[in-house]
Formats: sequence, C-alpha cells, structure tokens
Amino acid sequence: MSEVTIALAKGRMQNQTLELLSRSGIRCDEEALRSRRLSIEDTTGRIRFIFVKPADVPVYVEHGTADCGVCGADVLMESEADVLQPLDLNIACCTIAVAQPCARSDDAMKGKIDTVALRINEAGMLRVATKYPRIARKHFLEHGIPVEIIELSGSVELAPVLGLADCIVDLVETGRTLIENGLTITETIAASSGRFIVNRVSYHLKSGIIAELLDKLAASIVAADKSETESSHAENYK
Ligand code: PRP
Repeated sequence: MSEVTIALAKGRMQNQTLELLSRSGIRCDEEALRSRRLSIEDTTGRIRFIFVKPADVPVYVEHGTADCGVCGADVLMESEADVLQPLDLNIACCTIAVAQPCARSDDAMKGKIDTVALRINEAGMLRVATKYPRIARKHFLEHGIPVEIIELSGSVELAPVLGLADCIVDLVETGRTLIENGLTITETIAASSGRFIVNRVSYHLKSGIIAELLDKLAASIVAADKSETESSHAENYK
C-alpha cells in the first residue's frame, strides 16, 4: 500500500513532470507509463500517481483524495482551490495573456503588432473567449471593462478569427499558435509554471514523506538551474 498519492496533470505538462521526478530519483516502470492505466505506483511502491485532467488536479488535492499534485499556476489561479503551494517546479513556463487579431491577417507572421480596434458590442461589453473565465473576468473588471465571457475548452485562438469573440485570454508558451492564427499579445496577465501542491491535512499527517519529496524535487530544480546557468555562461564565452 503506497504512503502518498500524487495527482499529475495529463497533457502538456506530463512529460516534463515525469522527467523532473525521474531526475529526483522518483521513477515508474516504463511499461506502466506506456500503458493506459490512470493509477500507477513508483518503483518503490511508496508513491501512487494518478493521471487526471489539469483542471482536476486541485480538485483531487483539495478534497484529500490525492495528498499532493502537480499542475500549472494557471490552473490554480482559475480554480482558487484551498491547497498549499510549497514549490515552484520551474517547468512548463508560460504566460497567461490577452491576445487579439492583428490589423492585417499576415501581420502576426511578420511580427507586427497593429491590432484591430476592440469593439464593445451593443450591450456595451467586450466578448472574451477563454478557458479561464475567472481569470479573464477578474482581469477586465480590474480595468473597468465590462465583458461577456465565452467559455471554451480548447482551440481558443479560433474564436476571434471566426468572429465568436473580440479577443482571448489564453496560455502562451512559444507564441506559435497565436502567430499562426493571426493574433498578437496585447497584455500579459500573469506568468505560469508547474507547481507542486499539497493538501492541508496531508501536509501535517504525512509530513515525513512530503518533506522528503519536496527536498528531492527542490534539489533537482537547483541542479537544473545551475547546469543551465553554466551552459549559458559557456555559450557566452565561446
Ligand atoms: C495551449 C494554449 C494555446 C497553446 C499555446 O493549448 O491554450 O492554445 O497551447 O502554445 P504555444 O504558445 O506554444 O503555441 P493546448 O495545447 O493545451 O490545447 P487546447 O487549445 O486544446 O487547450
């Protein structure tokens, strides 16, 4: 019986998370990882991993079904779950941004940032398409802009292109999806990266193993930062 359950976000963060865990000495059997099983144990049997949709990670952790979890800060900002966030894993780094169509459709490819003037609709609102309704609403309300939030679950960049919305609030990592769909960033709302989160009760009841996990992860983050700094110095002195 495992001592601790960790919920991992499936999808874009999954490989980076498993790689970081592996560098920290926490490994799973390759065959189990290749399988479609949604719950597997590490090679020591002390840790059970469950693989869930990113937005569900804080849900499992807040309810204590999982003691810990790994998901993006974007997901945590949106969920407002009451969980502890002891460690920034420095993986899956990206930004949450407002983006809107460029004035001419090929401008984004050329790196130009002239945008179509935002239109307020007949009801006096800006139509914003997003997977992050709370973050988007809060952002525009703070700027005194009334918004109609159009909640989508993916391919958000299509919404302004097809006239469903005036702008979007979405994650930007490389920026390629924006560029290739004729959009450009007009505002950055927040930075996001992978976070290790912990259930408040588990943090006390399972303090030993959770502290051990945090120490291992923190050590490999520091080691990765150090080797990145060293290799960028080596690049600079070539
Ligand atoms: C995310 C995000 C953007 C894209 C940004 O979507 O919502 O669409 O990645 O990445 P880029 O800046 O590197 O192009 P995801 O891949 O998670 O798929 P989704 O649109 O189905 O949510």
